[in-house]
Amino acid sequence: MAKSGLIPREFIDQVIEHVDIVDVVSKRIDLRHKGKSHLGLCPFHNEKTPSFTVSDDKQLYYCFGCGAGGNVINFIMAYDRLDFVEAIEQLAFQQGLEIPKTLAKDSEEVKKTENLYAILTQTAQFYRRQLRDHPAGDSAIRYLQQRQLTGDIAKQYGLGFSPPGWETLSKHYAASNQQALLIQTGMLIRKDNGKTVDRFRHRIMFPIRDMRGRVVGFGGRVLNPDDNPKYLNSPETAVFHKSKTLYGLYEARQQLTRLDRLVVVEGYMDVVGLAQHGFWGAVATLGTAVSSDHVKQMLRLVNTVIFCFDGDLAGQKAAERALEMSLPHVADNISIRFLFLPEGEDPDSLIQKEGKDAFENRVSKASSLSDYLFALLKRGLDLETIEGRAKIVSTAIPWLEKLPDNIFRKLFVQKLSEMTKVSASAIASQMDKKLAFQQASSTNYLPVENKGAPKNALSRQKTHAGIHLVHDLLKILVHKPDLALQIKQFDLLKSLSWEGIPLLTSLVDAVQNQPNVTMAKLLAQWVNTPEEAQLAPYLSAELLLSDEQIQQQFIDTIERLEAMAKEQQLEYLLKKAKRHELSSEEKQQLSFLLSTPPNT
Ligand code: UTP
Ligand code: MN
Repeated sequence: MAKSGLIPREFIDQVIEHVDIVDVVSKRIDLRHKGKSHLGLCPFHNEKTPSFTVSDDKQLYYCFGCGAGGNVINFIMAYDRLDFVEAIEQLAFQQGLEIPKTLAKDSEEVKKTENLYAILTQTAQFYRRQLRDHPAGDSAIRYLQQRQLTGDIAKQYGLGFSPPGWETLSKHYAASNQQALLIQTGMLIRKDNGKTVDRFRHRIMFPIRDMRGRVVGFGGRVLNPDDNPKYLNSPETAVFHKSKTLYGLYEARQQLTRLDRLVVVEGYMDVVGLAQHGFWGAVATLGTAVSSDHVKQMLRLVNTVIFCFDGDLAGQKAAERALEMSLPHVADNISIRFLFLPEGEDPDSLIQKEGKDAFENRVSKASSLSDYLFALLKRGLDLETIEGRAKIVSTAIPWLEKLPDNIFRKLFVQKLSEMTKVSASAIASQMDKKLAFQQASSTNYLPVENKGAPKNALSRQKTHAGIHLVHDLLKILVHKPDLALQIKQFDLLKSLSWEGIPLLTSLVDAVQNQPNVTMAKLLAQWVNTPEEAQLAPYLSAELLLSDEQIQQQFIDTIERLEAMAKEQQLEYLLKKAKRHELSSEEKQQLSFLLSTPPNT
């Protein structure tokens, strides 16, 4: 619910009730009727025969091919690459629904951050004016000119100037509420002697804007080459999160009607210098490494991301890190590539030397992610020797394990196999050892027991059967959530300690607390939660049964699970009784269970 916190649940429900998912989807892809459903080619993976289904009555979509699935909001988020709030805004707008005022507590918080955005925007304007008005502004303008920047570009990026001296900003915003806000944004620093001084002094100022164009922080470059450090950045604040912000993204989106790729460079000046030569769509991290959030954010906007690094050692390190953050996102509709520049050059210096076309040409020749990965793995190894081949396999495995478990991982394994002449199955088995473990703790119906862990084959079989029952129950409830209202002894079921039970618990609790809730609505409450991910596979599991048969299967499943839970409970209590460890409550429970023996 994190992201939906500002929009009341009732309103989200209302949006889901108003919007017809079939309408929304068929505006974007071709669908044809098939029974109660509509069928088309899945937009989320490559396929030739349609397996993408949209259900009229459930208001859900799911793909049998790739397992994607969800409600209309999930669809808009995935297809239009929007975040949760943006998706709601878009759907509401199309339906003519007005998003209600935010809740009281939230608006308090919103107001606080609004004040921070406001003072940062004013500060950016103030620094821009200093470029023109301050006596030292001339030297700053000369510096920008010397770096080949025109007034237009400086304006587009909002470049400014923080004058020399300790208290320029501090004196300009002397009121105590302004001072407090500027301290919170990191623009002013309170000294031990009680004085507040400017963080940025005698620097070219680069305002950093978020996706909506609000100023969230600054980078500042020295004018005087002897000053240190060369670049200073705003600290992390309530409105500035470095691992989630990319410099230049807002400006690129403003400039381009269609953004089809992003080029990640290392510095502020690279972004601005490239734009000066008409090369748009470059972004930079903010003196920090590329994060997983950065990659995710970019891939929500474009299908092609090119990382561009300086040819030096620092550039290589940064590239490795970017590679690591990118591997989990490899998919067949996206392209992540790596470009290394000649030693001693950066994008800004290169484009000045060679011009836009030559730089564009370099970008078009960037290595694919797999070429870069394998070149990296091979570095310094002799694949003619057994030692070299063994070494590359063992260093490759942790990297390959970061890939999503899809066809790509198989292809990468294949390639490693060709390089090393180690069979693909031997490599895969090395990986599977760890993966089997990872999967056991991440998917929802593999046998994992804890207390009273069965040791013999019989009880292991039982556990396995039980887990399948949980799985069946989830499948039924996803299609008929109302049935959860019929579960009476849920505490008993909850005592089972199997994978799948936590998800079942969330689902049953949610339905029992909101009797008319639908799966489509629940999915909206669970956007970006583990529940969402765990539920997706169940959406595509079609129930080929009549309502009556479903009801019957539901009752059978519940009864069998309850019996197993009773039996487990009984075993556990009897063991404790043997050791004389029963509490009085447990004694009562035991006598109750003994009087109603499980009907296995
Ligand atoms: P570089 O030192 O490569 O600078 O820093 P640059 O982009 O080529 O800058 P110019 O051309 O000399 O003006 C790249 C990035 O690393 C961060 C900044 O984000 C900078 O844009 N950096 C660098 C710092 O945060 N602090 C520093 O002291 C230096
Ligand atoms: Mn540079």
